[in-house]
Amino acid sequence: MRTLKLACMFFCALLIAGTANAQYLQTSTRFAAQSAAQADTLVVLVPADATVALDGWSQATRDQVARAMHAAGFTGAAGQQELLLAPIELPADRLVLMGVGQTAELPRHRAETMGAALSVLINDSTANIIEVNTQLIADTGEAARIAAEIAHGIDLRNYRFDRYKSAPEPRPAQSYHWQVAAVSDAQQAYDLLSAMAQGVFTARELTNLPGGDGFPAAFAEYALQQLAPLGVDVTILNPEQVLELGMGSLYGVSQGSQHKAHLLVAHWKGSDDPVIALVGKGNTFDTGGYNIKTDSASILQMQSDKAGGAAVVGAVKALAGQRAAVNVVAVVPLSQNAISGEALLPGDVVTAGNGKTIEVASTDAEGRLILADGIWYARHHFNPRVIADIATLTGAKNTALGTAYSAIFTNEPEIRDSLTLAGELTQELVWPLPLDNYSGIIDSRIADMRNSGTPGAQAGAIFLQQFAEETPWVHIDMASEALTATASGINPAGATGHGVRLLAEWVKLFSDQ
Ligand code: BES
Ligand code: MN
Ligand code: ZN
Repeated sequence: MRTLKLACMFFCALLIAGTANAQYLQTSTRFAAQSAAQADTLVVLVPADATVALDGWSQATRDQVARAMHAAGFTGAAGQQELLLAPIELPADRLVLMGVGQTAELPRHRAETMGAALSVLINDSTANIIEVNTQLIADTGEAARIAAEIAHGIDLRNYRFDRYKSAPEPRPAQSYHWQVAAVSDAQQAYDLLSAMAQGVFTARELTNLPGGDGFPAAFAEYALQQLAPLGVDVTILNPEQVLELGMGSLYGVSQGSQHKAHLLVAHWKGSDDPVIALVGKGNTFDTGGYNIKTDSASILQMQSDKAGGAAVVGAVKALAGQRAAVNVVAVVPLSQNAISGEALLPGDVVTAGNGKTIEVASTDAEGRLILADGIWYARHHFNPRVIADIATLTGAKNTALGTAYSAIFTNEPEIRDSLTLAGELTQELVWPLPLDNYSGIIDSRIADMRNSGTPGAQAGAIFLQQFAEETPWVHIDMASEALTATASGINPAGATGHGVRLLAEWVKLFSDQ
């Protein structure tokens, strides 16, 4: 087995040293007790029904702001945003009022969304230096928390995938100065969220990569570059090693492609607890194989079929960046589901790492084939206390729940409850679907099981359950959450990085149980 950690240490450190955010963001974020003298834009966070007047404001300013608030119906309700140009007797060119409502009840995801909305307004203007004043929020601890969360929302929205533009639009590059009384609280909260954002960006980058460039070895190399400098132990198995270990189900999916299977293993050992394993579907492109996808709109999205793998890499990056006291491993089976004279034929039989034989009833149900061996590998090598697999697995999930929820399948109430909680915290929501009472759904006449059945989302889950065996396990089907056609909330258009925040928060919650 080839451990590439050492090989990477030198050049990866060069790539990443000292520029934690530079790769993805060009904005800067500072927290200080004093206001920034030269700001061209002043943003004031306004609690519900507060009188808006900062230290040193003249009567003329107060009067104008009160009048503008009245005219706009601005009350400080959470999510309200009002722009006032050329405010009287203030040095700034713009004044932005942002309602934060009852601050103790403002959830993190609302604050993040408000930050995203603020960044849209700022990016649409010529603002360069922005001061955000929090002095109207009486509780300085709450002010620090909310400031950090809004700043995080700004960052999440400001990611750009522009590596293929010959003349990319300039990226947002403003300086944000946050005036907060509890400076170190705000900084600490922001640093944790910043590490989370870095995980999200890595996942977006991997998911956005077109199929031709984001093939298995390239995915693994990019993940290695991102993770090794943080002290994550990265191992990459090449196609020969995948075969030698008996992972015929993983190998089979890309046997017809020139880009053969790899397996990426990324271990963040932040504690001595038993391991939590995250297994992500890394199918770097899904043509469907010989059951080829014939709908041109849907095949055009299939570079995102690696989003589950990207999510587990991003979650480990976030946890390592936070130096979280958790023992977590990401396992990503990597494939490219393509056709040639060597490719799997419908009806072929493959043998998985655990010795089980699988009739490939559909070459387009490839996700479960590679995950089966990913789950087996995680069990075999790490004896984890729990396995969560995450995948863009079935269209049926999308039919049932749309993009508002990912489907979860588990027989363990603690896993279901902690995942639900992590989903609410991050607004990457999950909804349980059943596993029981579908007997016979993946029975095969000629092999131990077949890789498809009806109903579709359950068949995928029950197939994977065979490989988790007695290890506590949950399957997360995130088909269609991976991409958004248009920018909205914290997401720019393209890959969302969905799953990173859900899994990173869940691992911390579950570790504490
Ligand atoms: N990658 C697809 C699932 C998918 C569909 C993801 C739409 C994102 C958006 C998966 O490999 C697939 O093709 N699933 C088939 C399974 C069927 C052949 C049993 C499906 O859901 O149609
Ligand atoms: Mn498929
Ligand atoms: Zn797929």
